[in-house]
Amino acid sequence: MPESLALPNDFEWGFATAAYQIEGAVKEGGRGPSIWDTYCHLEPSRTNGANGDVACDHYHRYDEDFDLLTKYGAKAYRFSLSWSRIIPLGGRLDPVNEEGIEFYSKLIDALLRRGITPWVTLYHWDLPQALHDRYGGWLNVEEVQLDFERYARLCFERFGDRVQNWITINEPWIQAIYGYATGSNAPGRSSINKHSTEGNTATEPWLAGKAQIMSHARAVAVYSRDFRPSQKGQIGISLNGDYYEPWDSNEPRDKEAAERRMEFHIGWFANPIFLKKDYPESMKKQLGERLPALTPADFAILNAGETDFYGMNYYTSQFARHLDGPVPETDYLGAIHEHQENKDGSPVGEESGLAWLRSCPDMFRKHLARVYGLYGKPIYITENGCPCPGEENMTCEEAVNDPFRIRYFDSHLDSISKAITQDGVVVKGYFAWALLDNLEWSDGYGPRFGVTFTDYTTLKRTPKKSALVLKDMFAARQRVK
Ligand code: NOJ
Repeated sequence: MPESLALPNDFEWGFATAAYQIEGAVKEGGRGPSIWDTYCHLEPSRTNGANGDVACDHYHRYDEDFDLLTKYGAKAYRFSLSWSRIIPLGGRLDPVNEEGIEFYSKLIDALLRRGITPWVTLYHWDLPQALHDRYGGWLNVEEVQLDFERYARLCFERFGDRVQNWITINEPWIQAIYGYATGSNAPGRSSINKHSTEGNTATEPWLAGKAQIMSHARAVAVYSRDFRPSQKGQIGISLNGDYYEPWDSNEPRDKEAAERRMEFHIGWFANPIFLKKDYPESMKKQLGERLPALTPADFAILNAGETDFYGMNYYTSQFARHLDGPVPETDYLGAIHEHQENKDGSPVGEESGLAWLRSCPDMFRKHLARVYGLYGKPIYITENGCPCPGEENMTCEEAVNDPFRIRYFDSHLDSISKAITQDGVVVKGYFAWALLDNLEWSDGYGPRFGVTFTDYTTLKRTPKKSALVLKDMFAARQRVK
């Protein structure tokens, strides 16, 4: 193995999941409903008839699942807490569900007993339904940040003696845009004004964005002041965002379009959170008053804490082409066209089992350099993975043979190594998505991202080949001096 592919010996790695996608047991242990329960059940066609009622039944089978982690050689495991399991009604004055605390406490202990480091995400899209009903959930910037702060504080208090790695919010862009612009995720609000002659006048996604920025900021402020000094942990946020190359590399307007696209996706959150600066200029210019201002009082909260790391969820890349004429209703893309082929017809990457996901490891390397260059924080890859071509329709015997996924992991690890050894990027860890096949949100149980095959009838788990090779891939890279 060449030196350029080395990884540091203390490089953290493991697998990731999220509560609603794997836990099931939605009515057990005192859990309150979340917006995802409502979203799936109100209109089952939204999710191909799927819901998280049983999912992988991880709630009852976590010991078996953690044995898999041991078998796969994982050093760490990223999972999320269900807010409504801990505080069923969600709010700062609402009662705490001790049974929920007890469940996660046992789960954390089960990891530690196996020598596996827990990485805890506080919020992975499952807002307590009660908060949505009470005051509009993520649309109520002032209320929701106070409730999130209390929830975060409670988690630091009750789990922080054993948990030293915290992620506040997973992919706020998806929560804001899919939840409030396209309506393809819970709570399923579509603010795209299809009949407007004035362009898109929607404000909801941008409010939901600000609410998440401020919720993150409050949790980080509390952690920085009251917990980090004694618990000695770290806290970050997981941002998604494809990497964009210009569709025509000789066209300056396509270069601008690519940059603008990433500002709309990443800078939206990263500017205030990591740079303590206002939203990107491109967003302010395009969205005007629809973008809720970050006030001096907001910056006082943002400045009261320090986010330790940038959690990066990376799956794919695309080409951006500029767009002439008025801003379309998909204005949240930053007024660009997206393409999977460039001007010369070259594809951005190899096709996977999902149309939106192409394997683009070279662009991953550029993405790492761009993000590190702009925000300057250590990066942890908090998600990376794919379903294999055709996997959706495979039997278990077929699906466990997953050379595509193995190549995907291997090539993306190469990019991380090169980013570290050749580009000077600080990357400190990697979590493959996902430990198990699970509920892929509005795509239901079709796409299989797991390194473990889940039979959704018997709930039997069967390791795929990819699960067992990651350990060797990391060992080989960590041996290189
Ligand atoms: C990102 C999300 O965080 C996760 O929940 C989802 O399953 C994966 N992407 C795959 O789409």
